[in-house]
This record gives sequence, C-alpha cells and structure tokens, in this order.
Amino acid sequence: MLKKFVDSLPIMKTMRPAGCLHGVPYFEVTMKQTFQKLHRDLPPTKVWGYNGQYPGPTFHVWKHQPIHVLWKNELPDRHFLPIDTTVHGAEKNQPEVRTVVHLHGGVTPDTSDGYPEAWFTRHFKKVGPYFSHRMYTYPNHQDAANLWYHDHAMGITRLNIYAGLSGMYIVHDENEVRLNLPCGPFDLPLIIQDRSFREDGSLYYPSRPNQPETAPTPSVIPDFYGDTILVNGKVWPYLNVEPRKYRFRILNGSNARFYRFSLSNGAPLIQIGTDQGLLETPVRVPSLVLAPAERADVIIDFSTCYGKTIILENDFESKDGKADPETTGTIMQFRVNQRLSRTDHSSIPGWLAPVPRFTHVDRTRTLKLNMRKDSYGRNIHLLDDRLWSDPVTEVPKLGQTEVWRIVNGTEAIHPIHLHLVRFQILDRQPFDVDVYKQEGRTVFTGPRVPPDWNERGWKDTVRSRPGEVTRIIMKFGPYPGLFVWHCHILEHEDYEMMRPYYIRT
Ligand code: C2O
Ligand code: CU
Repeated sequence: MLKKFVDSLPIMKTMRPAGCLHGVPYFEVTMKQTFQKLHRDLPPTKVWGYNGQYPGPTFHVWKHQPIHVLWKNELPDRHFLPIDTTVHGAEKNQPEVRTVVHLHGGVTPDTSDGYPEAWFTRHFKKVGPYFSHRMYTYPNHQDAANLWYHDHAMGITRLNIYAGLSGMYIVHDENEVRLNLPCGPFDLPLIIQDRSFREDGSLYYPSRPNQPETAPTPSVIPDFYGDTILVNGKVWPYLNVEPRKYRFRILNGSNARFYRFSLSNGAPLIQIGTDQGLLETPVRVPSLVLAPAERADVIIDFSTCYGKTIILENDFESKDGKADPETTGTIMQFRVNQRLSRTDHSSIPGWLAPVPRFTHVDRTRTLKLNMRKDSYGRNIHLLDDRLWSDPVTEVPKLGQTEVWRIVNGTEAIHPIHLHLVRFQILDRQPFDVDVYKQEGRTVFTGPRVPPDWNERGWKDTVRSRPGEVTRIIMKFGPYPGLFVWHCHILEHEDYEMMRPYYIRT
C-alpha cells in the first residue's frame, strides 16, 4: 500500500487567457497525454489533462464577465482504458477517443454546453452529430459558485474523466468579496477522487468485474470504486497550515464514490456554500456527505490547533463496503505547523447571501429512476424507463418553474444533475418499495422531510435515495435549447442513465 502523507497538496495553476476577442478574454486549452507523479513512490502515471495537467488549471472568472474558450484535443487516437463498444455512442464504428467539455453548474447556452454528442476528435478531424462550433462562450451571468469542467463525451465520459479530464471553475462576485471570507493562500480547492493503480504506476480501471458471464469484454461496470484517494491529483497528501481559518472548496470528482467527511479532532466543518453558491447562513456540521459532482464550500478553523495534526476522514459506506480507515477512510492531512504570517482578519458572517424561495409552480413532473436487465444480463439504470435515444419527453417552456418529483425505485442512491439550471430541494418522502414494485403505486410511509440544513442553498446535483420521492424546484432558462439531465455516477451516466431535455420558447 502507498504511504500516506508523503506528498504535499498540489494547488492547481490559474488558467491564463491567450488574448482578447472583441474585448472578451479568450482561453485556449489543450487536452494532452502526459506522465505525472501522483505519489512519491509511484512511477509517473499516464494521465490525460487539460493543458497537460491533472487536474486541469483552475479558472477564476467574475460574474457578468464572459469568456471564450477554445477546447482542443491533442490526445492520442487510441484510448488507454477499456472501452465497451456495446454502450451507446461508443460503438466500433465511432472514433475511439472523442472529447467534449461541459462546464458543470455553468449557465451556458446549449451550443457551448458540451452536449455529449457534440464531441470532437484530435484536431477536430471528426465531430459528433450535434457539434456546432469550436469556440465556446461562458457568459458567467451567475452568482459566485464553485463549478467544475470535465469531459462529457457520449459513452466514454467515465473513462475520460478517470484518465484525468477535470478541473475547477470558480465564479467570483462582489457580494462574496464583501463578506471577508478567508482568501488568497487561505482559500483552496480540494478535488477528491478515488483511483486504483497497478505496480508500474499506471491507472487501473477494471474491464469487467461484477458482470455476468454473458457480458462482453470489456464491459461497462456497475460502478467504479478505487482503493486510493487523491486530492488535487496527489495520493493522500498533507497540507501545512497556519493556526487560522481556511476556506476549502471541496468537489467530489469521483466516478461513483460518495464521501462523508469529518475531521479527526472532532472539530466541525463550517459549511458556507453548496453546488451553486453561498448558503443563507453558515451551517456547522460534524460531518458532511458529498455524492459525485456535489460541492461543499467549507471553512475550517485551525486557530486553536497549533502543533496538531488533523486528518480529513471519510466514513461513507459505499457499495464496495465500509470505508477502510487504512485506505478510502482517509482523505488528507492538515499539519498546523506554520507560524501565523499575519493576523487572521477574515470572518464568518452570520448572514451570507439571500436564497429566495419560489412562490409559484407552472408544472409538476413525476420522473422515476428504474433498473432493468440489458440483453447481456447486466443491470441498466434508466431515467423514467427511457433510453438516451428515445424521443425527448421533458420539454419545459423557457422561463417556467417546474417541480420534478424523482421517484427512486432502484437500490442505489443516484446523484441527479440537470444542466443549465440551479434548483432547490423541496423535500424527500419515503414510500413502500414493495407496493411500488408490484403495483407501480407510491404509497407513502412517512411525511415529507425537508432537506438537510446544508442542502438549503442552490444546488445542481441532488442525492435521490432509494425508496424516496425527492422533489426539486427550478426555473428553466435563461437560454432555450437542448440540454441533458443525468445521474452523475459516471458508469450510470455512460450506460443510459442520461436523457436529453429541451427548453422551448
Ligand atoms: Cu458534471 Cu452532465 O455533468
Ligand atoms: Cu445512478
């Protein structure tokens, strides 16, 4: 097993513009294969990175200040991870290495949103059926929030992200600056991902575990769980900190693993923001759960911890079993061993930002999450029992507010994500799963439970638990067009748990 806490936490570089286009900053980002040291004792690992870095450099943008990005693919023509050609969009006749970039949480017009079938290959030699143009525009008309960019190519998203194609995208605004939160060197993103390695340092992604004999090889797997945790691209790193407050923008960038984070000294995490920005008030939590793609903005106060070593731990029981304190139960280490460089004048204000509640609903939809067997005997998770290729059925009208009732009739928690919109969680209500499975009726077995205190901000990804109806509310817009919604367990998303939706005018 790899030794923990021997590498210091890497801080991703800031993405720099290549120039200006009609007064709008313009970035060029190239996806490249590279070899990177992920741990002191591992030989360099082959990864795919934006600008050749894993994780990619961090974007820092300001609300209402648009940018252009030219995403370029200079990856090899062959993939180094196992492709299942029975998966939609990854068939034998498709180019093997396809990429398209999605800004997760971005309020982005559809032509720049990274539609899964708007992919392109190396040097744009081939493009997918929905490809429209090379240059993407991110208007950034949205509140300060921690977004992330990642690959979204049809049928191989799980492999492209696993190979390294992800990075942070932070939106800043004046409102937030005024709060005087910890900033500069005391404000750091933490991208948490699990991986498995072979002896030679190469990334290991299984080609068919837990699948029936009848499944093809390679086969998509039900979900990926690695035995090693990386933060910002290093295995179990440490961070030297000062005895003061820090802000950490935590992203669960894993394929399938959920985490419940806590600190080994029992100190609370002070959560100030969710996926889509600040909460109304800070919430002190002993532990906090993040599903794949969820983000939590937290403050950790080390001011009384000088000389101590604190471990960020995880005790979420995923489908691969209880988190092992030796491996997946450990995330990283904080060493409070630095002298205070200057007095900590940052604050944790009692009031952060308004989260206005919705006052009316134009339409309610009920959408179920279900599971079937495919023709190879494998489980296949679906959204409302439909395939990706089925006609579009969710066609909200621009500017209208809808409630989606997500009825989870499966055995797993699915983090459900919608592109373009931010939403609020209304509640969750348990129902009788046996009656539901036999008769398709939802007979409730308890009252509607409001979301956790630290879920009461703007969200773009929601945990839908089995045997519960999860209700979310959102206004569709500000752009019309074709977007997607899906489960963010990447193995589910790649294998049919994703659907297009269309905002009509
Ligand atoms: Cu994180 Cu459809 O994306
Ligand atoms: Cu799922």
